[in-house]
Parts: sequence; C-alpha cells; structure tokens
Amino acid sequence: MKETVDSLSSRLNTHEQYGTASYATFLWRCLAVHPGMNILDLGCGEGKFDRLIVDSLDKDCNIVATDKDKTLLDKAVRDSAGYPITYMEVDFDQVLPLGDHCMHLVFSSFAFYYAADVKFTLSEIKRVLVPGGKLVVFGPLSTNKREFKEVILQATGIEMPSNKFSPDITDYLIEACHRAEIKVFRNLLTFPDLTTFMDYTRATFDPKRGVFDFEPDYQKVAEIVADKFPFTVTKVVGAVIAQV
Ligand SMILES: C[S@@+](CC[C@H](N)C(=O)[O-])C[C@H]1O[C@@H](n2cnc3c(N)ncnc32)[C@H](O)[C@@H]1O
Repeated sequence: MKETVDSLSSRLNTHEQYGTASYATFLWRCLAVHPGMNILDLGCGEGKFDRLIVDSLDKDCNIVATDKDKTLLDKAVRDSAGYPITYMEVDFDQVLPLGDHCMHLVFSSFAFYYAADVKFTLSEIKRVLVPGGKLVVFGPLSTNKREFKEVILQATGIEMPSNKFSPDITDYLIEACHRAEIKVFRNLLTFPDLTTFMDYTRATFDPKRGVFDFEPDYQKVAEIVADKFPFTVTKVVGAVIAQV
C-alpha cells in the first residue's frame, strides 16, 4: 500500500470539511496522552496527528513516528521543524530500531492492517512498550462508508473489498492484549455537490495508493449520484484500546 501526499491530504481534508464530528478529537481522547510520555506512531503518514499530540502537551513528550513511504516522511519532517518528533523509515514487517520497554504508548491510525504479519508486528509493539503500556489501533469497521460502497457497486458491479481492519484483526488484538476494549466513532460526511463527491471518489481510488485493483467508470458514478445531493456517507471507525 503506497499512500500519496495528494490522496492522503485530500481524503483527510474531506473528512474535516464535510464531516459532523472530528476524528482528530476522537483519536486524541482514545490516546489520553499526558506530559512526559514517550510515544510511538506506526504508519504515521504526514505526521499530522503527531504534531497535534505535541501541541496538546505543550511539547512535553517525545514521539517516534515510522512509515515506509519516504515521500510522506519527507513532508512530515518538513512540517515538523521544532517538534520533538523523530521520523524513521520502517516497515511494519521489520524489527523496530528501538530498545526494549522504552515507549509508554504505541498507536497506529489507519495503518496497522497493512502489516503482512500482524502477530510479528504486535510482538515488536509489546517489546518496545513498558509493562502495562498502552496500545491504540484505529481503523475502519466493516460498516464503514456503506452508502459509498453501494454507489460503487451500482457503477461497477464490484463489491469494494471488505475492510482490512477486519474482525480477524480486532478480535486478535483484543485476545492477545490485556484489558482491551473497542470504541466506535461515527462521522457523517455530507457532500454538498457532485464536484466534492467526485474529488473524494478519485482520491479514494487513486491507483498510486495501491489499495484497489480497479477504478470505477467515473462518468457512471457521477450519473448514479447526480440527483442525490446533499449526499451523506457514514464513516464508522473503531479504536482498539489495549494494555499489554
Ligand atoms: C491511510 S495512511 C494513514 C496515515 C496516518 N496514520 C493518518 O492516520 O493519517 C496509511 C499509512 O500507512 C503506511 N503504510 C502502509 N503500509 C505500510 C507498511 N507495510 N509499513 C509501514 N507503513 C506502511 C502508508 O505509507 C501510509 O502513510
């Protein structure tokens, strides 16, 4: 999976601009950070949420943020001047270049399920966390964007692949960690017009992301939704919050 700077910013901006609730606020509440923490963000993208955490703690924390995409990391570094954030190019499937028990909190937002071997990645997370440390993993649940998936099905005859943040992964995390719980966040994205909806659709299917092996016929998608505006799509996000 190779997210691009453009497609990632475009989708994040859409969630903020047209949503009724803030994912950033949900994330921040689930993390429950406090001053002095060492924090690891896996699959950090542009580092947007890392800067948000640092700002909320008045810079009293240390963050290590990893991703496998050099372009996103370069942007993250440029945007994080003066922040106590160290960016590292690390794949989920690699050993983390960190000592044992050095992190109070590990989180991963919309990325953990790209690990080829979830068991290995979790073992690395457990190794770097202090005993009793906290892990928070965010991702879309199976009911995510139901209305959007229906439009794509109508336009292409193809069911969008089920979410990578499947019950297999959430159940595994809950079983493999102590005191795990799952919190659900719903955000209604209301697209005011066809242009905004089509921009979002194109960013979602951007072939450079490497997420989908097909692109819909955009003309057909536009015809199906043309008379449906304002059109609402419900984002359903889960957070597994665990102690290891
Ligand atoms: C949807 S983006 C999420 C970015 C950020 N965490 C956020 O919530 O905005 C998914 C991120 O996972 C990264 N990623 C995908 N596969 C990866 C892998 N195997 N190892 C490390 N990072 C990976 C991508 O480069 C991308 O930055």
